[in-house]
Amino acid sequence: MTDTVPAQYTGPRRILSGIQASGALHLGNYLGALKRFTQLQDTGAPCFLFVADLHAITVWQDPALLTAQTREIAAAYLASGLDPAKSVIFPQSAVRAHTELAWMFNCVARLGWLDRMTQFKEKTGKHKERASVGLYTYPVLQAADILLYKATEVPTGEDQKQHLELTRDIAAKFNNDFNVPGFFPLPEPLTQGPAPRVMSLRDGAAKMSKSDPSDASRINLIDDADTIVAKIRKAKTDPEALPETVEGLDGRAEAKNLVTIYAALADETKEQVLAEWGGKGFGAFKPALAELAVASMAPVTAEMRRLMADTAEIDRVLKDGAERAAEIADPVVDEVKKIIGFWRG
Ligand code: TYM
Repeated sequence: MTDTVPAQYTGPRRILSGIQASGALHLGNYLGALKRFTQLQDTGAPCFLFVADLHAITVWQDPALLTAQTREIAAAYLASGLDPAKSVIFPQSAVRAHTELAWMFNCVARLGWLDRMTQFKEKTGKHKERASVGLYTYPVLQAADILLYKATEVPTGEDQKQHLELTRDIAAKFNNDFNVPGFFPLPEPLTQGPAPRVMSLRDGAAKMSKSDPSDASRINLIDDADTIVAKIRKAKTDPEALPETVEGLDGRAEAKNLVTIYAALADETKEQVLAEWGGKGFGAFKPALAELAVASMAPVTAEMRRLMADTAEIDRVLKDGAERAAEIADPVVDEVKKIIGFWRG
């Protein structure tokens, strides 16, 4: 990838992230993304949080469900504590500039850069010729999402790291090719949260994911208390007691995952969790973790259900968010078109 050194970006701080509108949200999304967004909301920079519905259709989405899934993600943003007065919450497809800038970035990004994207390889396996072209250029659209708002910080789970590196490469190449140093910022990836990679409850080597066929592998945001308790009780562990130190978790992927989840839910460090639980077995730890998970998730789930029961509030937030987002995005895409040299009349 390019190693151009760009001039400094001098614009304001802006935080941006998105969640795909494709299926149920889980604890990984909550701890890796949603909970962090609410913490960042009061750090003095405006937050732009969108429902990535354009990204969702890179794989087949039932049109009858896509709208509901979009509202569900919006409900999750609100239920997690995001305040629509402070944060701009919107559906990606409602701001036309996303697709417009994505096309221009398709002409900046190099084929070799996309060929290195591991998520595409993981998602398509041996059948890449059957994948949509959109799935391949997915990270270019993601770069457009981010740079359209000249976002300076992008909080996500660890799985988005490579996409964020590509975004920086596209920004640097655009600034360099068109000789507009510092036009786009090189956004800072904030992938180092307390739980940047929550693992499956059934396999400590696999990421907790909505595409895992086993529902027991994840805690869904809409699971009720009994389901959460049952899934944690059945979570895979080893026969040893919990270690006294964080180093003691090395080589014990499942134990490490449960301790990480506990720490992130309780807003404690792993050291603090192990100071309390080191030497004790999973027979004692799992019920405590289940209780903590239920207590943390229940208010979010209840609020999501309330919002989904009458979608007028969600729709108001999304409409207002789309208008506020376009106010920032439209002038940026206009500037880009001018820089590229498109006819403007
Ligand atoms: P998506 O919808 O797959 O996931 C949404 C957010 O949840 C995080 N996440 C996890 N964090 C910790 N542990 C896990 N097991 C886990 N699984 C998911 C993801 O890292 C993400 O932060 N490409 C993005 C959506 C997107 C986007 C963007 C993000 C589109 N444009 C621009 C940031 C900026 C995605 O598919 O996320």
